[in-house]
Amino acid sequence: RSNIIIAIDGYSSCGKSTLAKALAKRLNFIYVDSGAMYRATTLYFLNENVDLNNELEVENALKNLELNFNSRDYQSHITLNGKEVSDEIREMHVSQKVSEVSALKAVRQAMVKQQQKMGKSKNIVMDGRDIGTQVFPDAQIKLFMVADPLIRAERRYNELKKLGYNDVTFDEILDNLNKRDYADTTRKESPLVKADDAITLDNSKLTEAEQLAFALDKVRPFY
Ligand code: C5P
Repeated sequence: RSNIIIAIDGYSSCGKSTLAKALAKRLNFIYVDSGAMYRATTLYFLNENVDLNNELEVENALKNLELNFNSRDYQSHITLNGKEVSDEIREMHVSQKVSEVSALKAVRQAMVKQQQKMGKSKNIVMDGRDIGTQVFPDAQIKLFMVADPLIRAERRYNELKKLGYNDVTFDEILDNLNKRDYADTTRKESPLVKADDAITLDNSKLTEAEQLAFALDKVRPFY
């Protein structure tokens, strides 16, 4: 391929999106948060009371759902049927349901198709769980991020507080991370797994600047 793809996968709240945004900004690439797509789909399914065990209902819901990204400021503003839902999709009721929704084959097929389309001709950074394995197996740069679970929960806790969600507790977040990691790594469809050619980045003790430098060093041969 002539365009460059940076695929960033890893466990929940490992700082994938922070690094992806920093890379996109520095390199002037488009940033795509694939998790936001699964979250927005989950929000839609919750709002529409979609029965996840009913394949027909799921298929229909997927047909009626339009997701769009507005990558201004290299952030990821996502709209669901025209409405911006970027903050709402971070709420706990979505986090608690998203791994169940993202395990559905029909959901994955629909998302992967859209993601591959986004990466057809432009230079992009995409983060998620299956980007280096399923969405872009031919990505030039693949990073697999890991970090200490307690550090991850603390980061997510601070992030939610900043957004004004004051009801959520640290234990609730830690529990949600552990449950999602378990569900994401053990599901049948495209489980979270490190691609053979991905480079592991443990950022438990790294600053954002150090992570960016590490990643830029891997990108340099291609850009
Ligand atoms: O990245 P984030 O934590 O926001 O993703 C939310 C959830 O979406 C994950 O826990 C996972 O279940 C699902 N997901 C996925 N494949 C991706 C990105 C996210 O299954 N590429």
